[in-house]
This record gives sequence, structure tokens and C-alpha cells, in this order.
Amino acid sequence: MAYVVAEPCIRCKYTDCVEVCPVDCFYEGPNFLVIHPEECIDCGACEPACPTKAIFPEESLPAKWTSYVALNAELSKTWPNLADKKDPLAEADKWKDVEDKAQYLER
Ligand code: SF4
Ligand code: F3S
Repeated sequence: MAYVVAEPCIRCKYTDCVEVCPVDCFYEGPNFLVIHPEECIDCGACEPACPTKAIFPEESLPAKWTSYVALNAELSKTWPNLADKKDPLAEADKWKDVEDKAQYLER
């Protein structure tokens, strides 16, 4: 089991999660971040750090976002590692509470 980044991260990418991860297992795309499931040690530190509540342990991921388990596994193989916090995307605050953002995911 690992932690999973789900839809609320899309178009926000606050990266507070990155700052607290002890094993640097976050990988960065243009407007989304993912967790490498084999590197995550299940410490749980990232879950409360995310302002959009995008991070869940796999076993309590809301049913509507189960596809994000495979998406984290897939994209963490090709996207570059991100080990340090950076500025959120310019319109992060505008997109923070918007629902149904899957269509905006850039690869
Ligand atoms: Fe990193 Fe811990 Fe979050 Fe896994 S649960 S991504 S190890 S902070
Ligand atoms: Fe995304 Fe939340 Fe991290 S918005 S970048 S999962 S702090």
C-alpha cells in the first residue's frame, strides 16, 4: 500500500507535500504531482500537509478517484523527481475547490 495523489492536485500543485516527505518520492508533471508507490514508506506526513486534501492512503481513496492509483504508478515512472517545495501554479487558489478537474491533467 502507498499514498496516492488524486484529482484535487490538478492545476494547483502547492508542493507542501514534497517538503514533508522523508524519502522524496514525489514526481512532477506540468500541473499535477504523483507518488511513486514503491518508494512511499506510508508515513502519512503528506496527507495533512496538502491544502487541497488531494492525498489519501490507497485503502481510503474515495471510490470516484480509484483510477489515480494506476495513474500515480504510471506517471511516477516517467516524470522527474521533485524534492523541494516550489511556488504553486499561478492560478492554484482559483482551482483549489473546483471539482471534476481530470480533463485538465497534462502529461
Ligand atoms: Fe512521502 Fe510519507 Fe507521503 Fe509516502 S506517505 S509520499 S513517504 S510523505
Ligand atoms: Fe498537489 Fe497537494 Fe502536493 S496540491 S502538489 S498534492 S500539496
